[in-house]
Amino acid sequence: MPHPVETDTIKIAVLGAAGGIGQSLSLLLKTQLTAFSNRRHVHLALYDVNADGVRGVAADLSHVDTPITLSSHSPADSADALRDCLINAALVLIPAGVPRKPGMTREDLFAINAKIVGQLGGAIAQHCDLSRVFVLVISNPVNSLVPVMVETLYASAPAASAGVERRVFGITHLDLVRASTFLHEQTITSNLTERSDIMPYVPVIGGHSGDTIVPLFSLASEQHHIPQQQLESLVHRVQYGGDEIVKAKNGQGSATLSMAHAAFQVVKNFVLLLTGAADTLSGIFYVSLLDRAGQPVCPGAGKLLALIDGCTYFAAPVTATRAQGVVDVDYGILAKISAYEREKLLPLCLPKLKAGIEAGRKAGTTV
Ligand code: NAD
Ligand code: LMR
Repeated sequence: MPHPVETDTIKIAVLGAAGGIGQSLSLLLKTQLTAFSNRRHVHLALYDVNADGVRGVAADLSHVDTPITLSSHSPADSADALRDCLINAALVLIPAGVPRKPGMTREDLFAINAKIVGQLGGAIAQHCDLSRVFVLVISNPVNSLVPVMVETLYASAPAASAGVERRVFGITHLDLVRASTFLHEQTITSNLTERSDIMPYVPVIGGHSGDTIVPLFSLASEQHHIPQQQLESLVHRVQYGGDEIVKAKNGQGSATLSMAHAAFQVVKNFVLLLTGAADTLSGIFYVSLLDRAGQPVCPGAGKLLALIDGCTYFAAPVTATRAQGVVDVDYGILAKISAYEREKLLPLCLPKLKAGIEAGRKAGTTV
């Protein structure tokens, strides 16, 4: 189902669009994005190796009454499917890959999903303008697959990849969504607030797997006294929230609907940036702190590296611009966190995160 794409169109490619996240996210994009597109035309290019699946999703969504257009791409339909999907894309969303089953860790997905993300990264290097595109990695393990993507882009497009690490973002926003939800539940059930209509904002930094997830309840927008034991169970619930869904789905996959919601919150801000409605984008993202020459991507990244034992990728508050990608990393957040977060949670996070990064870097260089 090819579709002509106008030049001032914002083209968003969804790779893995027939999957659980891909379908729900595409629905949100098709139904909700017009409100954020600043009168620019948006086109959704949906790609999946499941040809019937992606054709069906595109056909189904094409009946939704918004001006956003759609196209469906699959290797079974055309040898150039991935190229047609990616060409002129301003934003590439990647929920392609295998989800967990009960008893698995996200790291157990690494071998298969690194191949998928590496292959997609090779195509992005070939068909996208790397000085312009933003790549958002959702597939797990995010801790390793973001380095896989960055290394693949470097390796596949040596002449065009300068600065590309500033344009690749690992999506950990579901952890913030969970932390806010669980804190809200806790304050209601413990009668800590009468204001059930206010959702707190809770920053979560580090990575996106077990102990690498570092929720910062000390910096929550709504402050209540939570006894240490309850606080520790809240932290544990955020770190292992994904397991609750995997267990409930009992072999039918992992979080899809809450993930699509989280991804949509992020994508709408990228669209505001792309349309020029916003000059900068701010949020917590898992990004590379070093450039290809091994230099910090910005002074803030250099300062953060010194505080996190040289961990080269980290989910931290970042600021990005359309032209340059990540331009600032807020290392100052670490000066504000509690002793428990600094002395207990961070030391557990860093070695595991480093191991995940190293695995991803190695795999990415061999793609
Ligand atoms: P799913 O199995 O429902 O969908 C994955 C889709 O990817 C399928 O349609 C499949 O055909 C497609 N696919 C496989 N190989 C592909 C390739 N080479 N090119 C294009 N498409 C390909 O899985 P899901 O529930 O949507 O989860 C997708 C990924 O997202 C998993 O790795 C999961 O662990 C991860 N995830 C991440 C977060 C997060 O917070 N970042 C949250 C939830 C899930
Ligand atoms: C999540 O946090 O829900 C996702 O990373 C999926 C998973 O495997 O838990």
